[in-house]
Amino acid sequence: MGKLIIGNWKMNPQSEKEAESIFDGVNKGIKNSKNVNIIICSPFPFLFVYKKLKMKKIKLGAQDISVEVGGSYTGEVSPSMLSDLGVSYVIVGHSERRKLCDNNKIVNKKLLNALKSKISPVLCIGENLRGTSSEYLLFIKNQLKECLDGVSKIQMKNIIIAYEPVWAIGKDSERGATSEEFMEMKIYIKKILSDIYGLMTAHSTPIIYGGSVNRENANEFIKKGNADGLLVGRDSLSPKKFIAIIKTIK
Ligand code: PGA
Repeated sequence: MGKLIIGNWKMNPQSEKEAESIFDGVNKGIKNSKNVNIIICSPFPFLFVYKKLKMKKIKLGAQDISVEVGGSYTGEVSPSMLSDLGVSYVIVGHSERRKLCDNNKIVNKKLLNALKSKISPVLCIGENLRGTSSEYLLFIKNQLKECLDGVSKIQMKNIIIAYEPVWAIGKDSERGATSEEFMEMKIYIKKILSDIYGLMTAHSTPIIYGGSVNRENANEFIKKGNADGLLVGRDSLSPKKFIAIIKTIK
């Protein structure tokens, strides 16, 4: 499988017109995307644009999913609604959602709900702080175990894990993680997965990096950090910047 480059638009842009122009810009900008799989996670109101523009080279992702399958749940969006719009991936456990209300238990339910509808979850994990002790490692282990509770070895084939240290996300972060920090975490995550599911599953689960990814550091995470892909926030909103990231990887 090629590298996964996932764009997370968050609560942007503010109009259908702008959303269309980003989708279109990215779609036209990627000429030959053989070695990369590009996924755009748009806000719910713009997901329909994907089908409207008949995009072939990009896959569609959502930024959230309900724990329920349908019924009286005001404001919720079900897996079937997402599938119907062409969604094949969904971000679960993003730190910005965890800040609002999602905890490991809810993230686990969302993840299981997505899997049932054949939507691949992009499970975000990441520590808030990296102190001088190894406590953050235990934090990650706990997040991973609780979020994957009840997930079978077969279901693991459809899961992507995004390591996103919270301190490295967004324009107010002091810095992104280094490729060495990512690599250390990737090995650690693989060890946890291998203890639960065995070596083969640990090897085949994609572990990607997210947090202040840009065209300058993207290739380093892939080459030096051995990342299976990238989760890009801010720089996925500009087709020019997003394509530049994709190109550095190829
Ligand atoms: P950022 O966001 O690239 O703007 O730091 C990444 C994310 O939150 O997924």
